[in-house]
Amino acid sequence: MSGCYRAYVRLARADPSQSGGTPTSVGRCPTLSDEAARRPRSPNDLATDRGLRRVCGKLTRLRGARLGPPVGSSDRDHRSVAPSPASSSFARKASSAWRKDLLIARSSDNLIWLGWAGNYDHGTGRSEMRQGLDDLSASRMAPTSQGEGAVPAGGDRVPFPGLARLASELELPELPTPFLVVDLDVMERNIERMAAYFGTSRSRLRPHMKHHKCSEISRLQLKAGCAGITCATSDEIRAAVRGGIDDILLANVLTDRKRLASVADSARDAKVTIASDSAHAAQLASAAATDHHVHLGVVVEVDIGMHRSGVSTADEAVELAQYIASLPGLSFRGIMAYEGGLVEIEDRAARSAAVHAAFEPIGDLLEQLKRAGLDVEMVTGGAASTYDVAYGLPYLTDVQAGSYVFMDAAYATLVPEFEVALAAIATVATSRPGRPVVLDVGSKRISTDWGIPVLAGFHARHYANSEEHNRFMVEGPRMPEVGERVAVVPGHSSSTVSLYQHLVGCRNNRFERILKVDGRDAIA
Ligand SMILES: Cc1ncc(COP(=O)(O)O)c(C=O)c1O
Repeated sequence: MSGCYRAYVRLARADPSQSGGTPTSVGRCPTLSDEAARRPRSPNDLATDRGLRRVCGKLTRLRGARLGPPVGSSDRDHRSVAPSPASSSFARKASSAWRKDLLIARSSDNLIWLGWAGNYDHGTGRSEMRQGLDDLSASRMAPTSQGEGAVPAGGDRVPFPGLARLASELELPELPTPFLVVDLDVMERNIERMAAYFGTSRSRLRPHMKHHKCSEISRLQLKAGCAGITCATSDEIRAAVRGGIDDILLANVLTDRKRLASVADSARDAKVTIASDSAHAAQLASAAATDHHVHLGVVVEVDIGMHRSGVSTADEAVELAQYIASLPGLSFRGIMAYEGGLVEIEDRAARSAAVHAAFEPIGDLLEQLKRAGLDVEMVTGGAASTYDVAYGLPYLTDVQAGSYVFMDAAYATLVPEFEVALAAIATVATSRPGRPVVLDVGSKRISTDWGIPVLAGFHARHYANSEEHNRFMVEGPRMPEVGERVAVVPGHSSSTVSLYQHLVGCRNNRFERILKVDGRDAIA
């Protein structure tokens, strides 16, 4: 027998004058304890309870941040409610972290509910569950209602009109859709703007290549005045070195021997600094460096709340730094701390306060390292939405911002001083009044891991996506026509770019040149 349950916790109140209520989308909405009382316990239940407690814990921590309006779509007509980037991406993270379906619904009285669904052997609940998921399909896993940031607020303005014009004026019929276009003027403005912000300050820009994976673009960033670049993978490093870049930070802890060998090989032609967070990882890096007769700089990664990699305490960091300094082929260079868990906080002041608080322990750590006789030449962290905060941290030397180059629908509201330069060009497959418009670009060609795609130039709400299609409800005044080429702005550019081998560089809505995504994974 199969079955299911849904458990909801109240996430935030959209209207503080209201209280109580249950989600409209799923009808009855039992709490975990109601439901648990009616069915036998199993090991899975315990995991479920733990998972829900973790959700609650995370929500408690998030309470300081402004979560914005209700998230996700929740009514039976699939009418969407605009999600806030902060809360929708939180949902995405939570769901991927716990490998369960995290559902978001709005209650009749405008409370936001965050629900967590799982299956268990119990009666006929499965069909009920299916119904619930169908009702909530547009908010499941990858939230599919249109992000606030995607639609400029106010009146009749349509989102991303420049990219919409690019799609309609670009004459490239020989290139089949979907393909990715970059508005080179916009991209260059973003690069210049960020480089000018850092100028010749003590805190230097070391832009992250993982965003575009194009050594050509990294070179443009260096030309605009950056300290070096940041990479996430050995393939990015290899492409960068082949492209003539000679100062690279690997902001990632690699432990695969083959990958480390590739990094060490690249270090023959460039100054390469890697991140490490354990004695074992450092030993592996040391072995790769000595095998290749090269030297690798190492920064100790400290976890400042993201809970990805990084040591947890200052004592651990000092101990590891001393150990690294003692290993052949390695030299200790400093500290890395990435505030990845905070980059999506919607409210800029709250984001800034959270980043300052997260980095606070780093000051003490630097003192401790000094007392231990260790020289620190690099302290690195930062992202596109926190570049200005990172700039203001007195000890940060290298800021790893990446996504400001192309931007995307999710980042558009977080740092509106940068413009969106990237879109997928797609062809309309189906267009009927009252029905969603169907495009020939699906999740295999436009990522949905962080926010949803946005149809440029139309008043449209994202309806759903599947492997080869995205569907949008277009609200007029004009419907895109069958065969028409349109521009779709990804929710997340970084993970969309790596689905393509080439980017189509355009200027004044005309083709200029192809940019090779040469930092893509060369092995898989
Ligand atoms: C280690 C590290 N540094 C910096 C960034 C910042 O990137 P972005 O500017 O694209 O948010 C990331 C993003 O994933 C990262 O993983």
